[in-house]
Order: sequence, then C-alpha cells, then structure tokens
Amino acid sequence: MRKFNNVIVRRPCRAMTEGITSGLYPGKPDYDLALIQHDAYIEALKKCGVKVTCLPADENYPDSCFVEDPAVLTEKCAVITNPGAASRNGEKISIEEAVRQFYPEDRIEHIEYPGTLEGGDVMMCGSHFFVGRSERTNDDGIRQFKAILEKYGYTCSEVKLEEVLHLKTGVNYLENNNLLVSGEFTDKADFINYNKYVIPEEEAYAANCIWVNDTVIVPEGYPAVLSAVQSMGYKTITVDTSEFRKLDGGLSCLSLRF
Ligand code: GLY
Repeated sequence: MRKFNNVIVRRPCRAMTEGITSGLYPGKPDYDLALIQHDAYIEALKKCGVKVTCLPADENYPDSCFVEDPAVLTEKCAVITNPGAASRNGEKISIEEAVRQFYPEDRIEHIEYPGTLEGGDVMMCGSHFFVGRSERTNDDGIRQFKAILEKYGYTCSEVKLEEVLHLKTGVNYLENNNLLVSGEFTDKADFINYNKYVIPEEEAYAANCIWVNDTVIVPEGYPAVLSAVQSMGYKTITVDTSEFRKLDGGLSCLSLRF
C-alpha cells in the first residue's frame, strides 16, 4: 500500500539545546548525536519509498526540526497552522515557503489568530481527522480547521487532551483501522471503532510510531511496542530518537508526510 510520496524534514539547529521541554525525559540534547539520529531518520524514510526534502537548519527557532507542527498536509490541501507556542509561532512562515513547492496557491489554507493549532494535535485516519484540544490548539483553531477540511470533503472531530503535549504524543494511526493508544487515550470513546493496541505505561513514548507506506517506524528501545507492531503484520524499522525525546519530540514530529 502506497500513500505518501513526499516527506519534508528540517535539519536540527544548534539552538535545539534551548528547545521547549516538559522535563519528562531529562537532559539537554547532544547536538552532534541529534544530527546522526536525524540522518538515520531520513534514511529510514527513504527506505519507505518517499522523496525526502530536507530544509536547512533555522537557528531562530530552537524547535524548528519538529516540522509537523506548523503545517498539516493532506492529499487535497495544505493547512499552514498558527502554532500556540509563542517561541514556535514564526515557524509557519518558512514552512509555507517549502509547502508552496508542492501545493498550488488556491490549495494552501491558514489558521488565523485568535485560532491556534499545531500539527502534532492532528491525526489523519483516512478522510477523518481527529484534532486534540490542547494547550497549543484552541477552540477557535479547531473551528477554523474543521471548516477548512469540510470544504475539501473531509470530516473532523475534537478530542480533549488532559495530560500530554499533543494528540499524537499518545495515539497514532497505523492504517488498516489499527491504532496505538496510551495513557489517557486508552478508554476514550472517540476511538471505539478502531482496533487498539494499548501501550504499556513504561513504553508510553513509543505510542508515537509512524506508518509510511506499510512500514512502521518505531523508536528504538521499546521492545513491547516493536513486537506488537510486528505481530500486526507490519514491516518495521527502528530509529533512535533519544535526543529529540528530551524535547518531548517523537518520530511523527520530525516530518510532514504527504
Ligand atoms: N519541544 C517541542 C515542543 O514543545 O513543541
């Protein structure tokens, strides 16, 4: 099954050591190691058959390697978001320049102030989009996002977040009706119609796996999740994300897949 042809990533910048962090995974990122891990991430994506566009590092924005947040890319349109984290809001400008290479002008939409929305709060399940109401994504952002999606024939529903940073911190769709769920998402009625694999608490970080053309990329060091994903019948590739994890970032945050 092939769904994605392209991926956009952005090289981590030296300032990533000053990126936003909850401190859940302590320590400052080691920049050189982050670059090695980023290289491995790009190689893993290429093995999944996508063309990778790698944007240059942007020292103005410590978290800018997490390109998933300033845009949501669908088959029919691109949505430039309005990130709710003040230090990240300006990332939307340079991501739009990159997105313009792939989408015509009339298919590029925007979330406008006072709405805020970050792509980490958006989970695409076929033609339905779940969007997390979080500290970064507000009611007005969700209202605007829904209206945009409906214009293109998509549907959208809100999921209230209680604990985690972004929706996809804790729940991810692996296609074929399969979801990885952890923590607060385990029993949510929103996901009742999916086959759910419940992530053990000690492997919660690995809820953030990504499906790319029938391969699932899994963070390194989470044996229960790796084995569960393999037993669902997926090919897997593991990538070490230890330096991004220190900034609460995971596999999905590091790319836009479309
Ligand atoms: N450090 C990633 C974020 O908080 O947006």
